[in-house]
Amino acid sequence: MTVALVPVGASAAGGDPVNGRLVVEKWCALCHSISGVNTDPDRAPTFEQVANRDGRDAAYLTRIVHEDHFPMTTFRLFEAEKRDVVAFLLTLQHEKP
Ligand code: HEC
Repeated sequence: MTVALVPVGASAAGGDPVNGRLVVEKWCALCHSISGVNTDPDRAPTFEQVANRDGRDAAYLTRIVHEDHFPMTTFRLFEAEKRDVVAFLLTLQHEKP
């Protein structure tokens, strides 16, 4: 598994991926694991999986974290937290050949 390492504060989305990880561990871990491939039908795909779907760039992920997704309940993240979550998700993307 290759995970691109992005220096703190230097992500494409301008957020802090370290804080983004803390945010998703706090609010999203009920359904999403971070790495690997989810095989449990009662859980959501891992963040590593969703970050590596086609077209999941900063703009797409930013839009997603501003919307509610079924069956996810409505989360009220601060704007800075959303930016940090996107920055963190981008660090999970595998290098494209
Ligand atoms: C109650 C369960 C649940 C919670 C809590 C939850 N999600 Fe999800 N999420 C899902 C499911 C199920 C999917 C799968 C839908 C799919 O396959 O696109 C998903 C998909 C996603 C996707 C992929 C969307 C796409 O179009 O590829 C992202 C990004 C995401 N969630 C982010 C988050 C974040 C960030 C949080 C925490 C703030 C969160 N989710 C919390 C259930 C949840």
